[in-house]
Amino acid sequence: MNMNFEYQISDKVTLQWVLDKMPQFLFPDLSKKKDRIQKVMTGVVATLNKKPVGLLLSTDDDTGNNYRIHSFLVHPEFRNKGLGNALVEQLEDYLVKKGTAQLDLYYRSHWKSGSFLEQILKRRGWDDPKEDLIIVRGDAAKVNILFMHDRLVLPDEYAIERFRDISANDRDYIKKKKSNENWYLDYLDPFVQENTICESASLVLRKNGRIMGWVISHLIAPDLNEVTALFIDAGNRPYKLAHLLMREAITRQQAAGITRFLITSKTDNYVMSRFLLRHAKETEVFLTRSLYSRKSLI
Ligand SMILES: CC(C)(COP(=O)(O)OP(=O)(O)OC[C@H]1O[C@@H](n2cnc3c(N)ncnc32)[C@H](O)[C@@H]1OP(=O)(O)O)[C@@H](O)C(=O)NCCC(=O)NCCS
Repeated sequence: MNMNFEYQISDKVTLQWVLDKMPQFLFPDLSKKKDRIQKVMTGVVATLNKKPVGLLLSTDDDTGNNYRIHSFLVHPEFRNKGLGNALVEQLEDYLVKKGTAQLDLYYRSHWKSGSFLEQILKRRGWDDPKEDLIIVRGDAAKVNILFMHDRLVLPDEYAIERFRDISANDRDYIKKKKSNENWYLDYLDPFVQENTICESASLVLRKNGRIMGWVISHLIAPDLNEVTALFIDAGNRPYKLAHLLMREAITRQQAAGITRFLITSKTDNYVMSRFLLRHAKETEVFLTRSLYSRKSLI
């Protein structure tokens, strides 16, 4: 059979249109991000005898200099025929003509076709993929068993309380320590999206009254809590405090009826994920990594 694939590119694709016309061509499933992807997208459709066989979707950042691929899929029957490569090539050529500086994408290590995607990126001269995040997902009840409830107790001078109950003075203390001595890394900031934190499982750790650390989480589904920041003051780290704080957070989320959790950490800072992964077998935690690659188009 002679396969004459055709490609059409449009900068007026909406997610709603794709969901209506060809939802099976979305990967990953962007329908969950519907509220976040409101923008008009630039997409390439591959067709064979007028029927779609592949789809690639991207959006620009607000400057128009950087495009990001959000979805990329070739129909299973038509894979390994160069279509995937051609879809990316079409988008690159179009963006080069527009004068766009860069095209990039994020993907996950557990995706079955990851290696084929990587071959496409390599062949097309993209930068070597870099690990960005480590993502661990698990069941609160199963993981809680790990935390040595009988052996590990919080030393007397420490106390744990809800983040939402801290005083204005506590807040000032945290903010001053951050600005004076860069106390914690920016992405461990406890005040990010504070109005949507999970109140029951967002906690601070005090030592003799002073705040020494925190665990902050956000509910991303009724039964799924995402741990967004876990921080313990550098001088207090060897005491298994992170462990105790995390145990308390997981216990409290469980008590609040939230059954699952997700921990997203930067690859250079993943103590808690490492601990959970060591026990991945018993606790059935699921691990994936987020990878990033880009191509300069100029
Ligand atoms: C990733 C995907 C789009 C690639 O589409 P494709 O049309 O198969 O891509 P290509 O035919 O251009 O193949 C790309 C490379 O993988 C290789 N490849 C593809 N399928 C293969 C297979 N089944 N066995 C061995 N190699 C394979 C090709 O030989 C090619 O390598 P090369 O450049 O060294 O020749 C497709 O696999 C897919 O839709 N996967 C599911 C969704 C997904 O994971 N998308 C990525 C989201 S970012």
